[in-house]
This record gives sequence, C-alpha cells and structure tokens, in this order.
Amino acid sequence: MTPEQLEHVTRIAEKYNYGNNGWNKEHADKVAQLTQRILQQFTKLKLVDEKEADLLLAKAIALPHDIGRNPKAVGYGKFEHNMCSFLTLKEELKGGPLNEEEAIIIQYCALFHTGDKWNHTAIPQKTEVTKRLAGILRIADALDYELDQRVRDATLTVRKNEVVCKVIASSPTDEEIRRAYKKSDLFVQVFSREIKFK
Ligand SMILES: [Fe+2]
Repeated sequence: MTPEQLEHVTRIAEKYNYGNNGWNKEHADKVAQLTQRILQQFTKLKLVDEKEADLLLAKAIALPHDIGRNPKAVGYGKFEHNMCSFLTLKEELKGGPLNEEEAIIIQYCALFHTGDKWNHTAIPQKTEVTKRLAGILRIADALDYELDQRVRDATLTVRKNEVVCKVIASSPTDEEIRRAYKKSDLFVQVFSREIKFK
C-alpha cells in the first residue's frame, strides 16, 4: 500500500470521526499501533510472510474498523457495528485509489474485527491474508477494550506451538486480557498456535 492510498483510507476514517463516542481517533491510533507492532514481530518470528508484512495496510485496516458506530454509517441502527463498518467501507472505497484486493482486505477486516462472521462468510479473494490480519486486529482491538489507551506495547515470543504476548501497560489490564483471550479464536485458527497473554 502506498502512503497516498493510506491517506485516502485515513480521510474516510476521519469523515466518520473514527466511530464517535469513545471509539475515536485515540482508540483507532492505538489499535493501529498495536496491529503494526504485532505484525512487525510476527514477521521477525517468521509467522507472517515478508510480502504480507505491509505496515501501511495494517494501519489502513485498523483506522476505520469502528466507523460503523457512527450514525452516518451505512445500515446504522439496522445492523451490528462491524457490518455497518463493512458496508460503509465498501461504499466509500468504490472507485478510489486502492486496488480491489486491498479494498476487500480492509472491508472484511472491519467485518471480522468482532463477532464470529469470519466463521461463515466467504471472502472474494485474499482469504488467508485477510484472516491473518483480522486475527491480529481482533487482539489489538481487545487490548484497548476500556478505550483509554492504557496498553503501551505488546511484545511477543514463540514457544513451540504457543505465542506468548507480554502486555505492557500503565494500569491493570485484566479486562483487556480477558477480552483478548475471547477474541483470539481467529488468531489461533489461522496461525495454528495458542496464544497466552501476561
Ligand atoms: Fe475498536
């Protein structure tokens, strides 16, 4: 992804104020930072192909993931917010500077960032990349569960078939970690590894 394409996605996120009501720029930026950090470390640990380790794309999936919470989003009040983010991104990315594959990855990561739609939704293309990125996004999102950016960093190590994620924070993260375990289901499936948080 190019910086210009990321800029286009950022403007869409800004248009919807990143979601509103706490799901704001600070939350979006924190989720983007953690998504990039996890992806970066996964690349070093060879859990992700170097070609897939596009940090700009990682930021582009994170920034607009909650825009469906904004009353201006497509389907607002009718569907869950992840579906509204998906529908809004589908509409907003149409005819823009992104290629079709990247647009699909961004839309579906928004759809899969919460809930269990990834379990029974067919993705038109780039299924594996989308699921890997969505698996990481779900964890990054959970680590800002209280929407107050208390998690400063997440460092990863691999032990046999297990990934250990050390959460570095300014205050207790019991809720964030509980939520991260709950949302690590997709991660466990696509990376074929258990994950432990501490
Ligand atoms: Fe979120």
